[in-house]
Amino acid sequence: MHRLLSLALFGLALCAAMNAHADDAPERGRALYREHCSACHAPDFNGAGPAHRGVVGRLAGTVPGFTYSPALKDAGFVWTPERLDRWLTDPEAVRPGQRMGVSVADAAERADLIAYLRTLGEAPQKETAPRE
Ligand code: HEC
Repeated sequence: MHRLLSLALFGLALCAAMNAHADDAPERGRALYREHCSACHAPDFNGAGPAHRGVVGRLAGTVPGFTYSPALKDAGFVWTPERLDRWLTDPEAVRPGQRMGVSVADAAERADLIAYLRTLGEAPQKETAPRE
């Protein structure tokens, strides 16, 4: 009986730990984004890559003012989490001729990055460049 109880408690603790883990995904994604994406991307302004705010659910290749490759401009699909996962795994496999020379080999890191991108809502782009 005692053993059963401790097993149940262990199970509960495990669930709690896993939940906490899942909730941390956007935070981990934000750190990964800073490390791996921010050289070219930002939520609210175009750099070497297009602005990301609202990217999940948006038609690919359509951020105003950014000059895309024809391959991405004509993609004709909406960015879903699944499609973003494939893009980050191998952009060239998704749209041959695209111009993002970066990929993320680690599936857990991709999931965290996408969790972060999902937190960027559908706000309009800012008119002025941000301070950072
Ligand atoms: C070296 C610069 C560079 C880095 C680093 C980079 N990207 Fe990109 N990214 C680009 C370019 C350039 C494009 C546009 C590609 C095209 O037009 O073919 C792009 C496009 C995208 C798009 C499509 C956006 C849209 O509007 O359709 C997504 C999503 C994206 N990048 C995510 C990321 C993420 C997440 C990271 C970090 C893991 C990252 N990128 C790192 C340069 C970069």
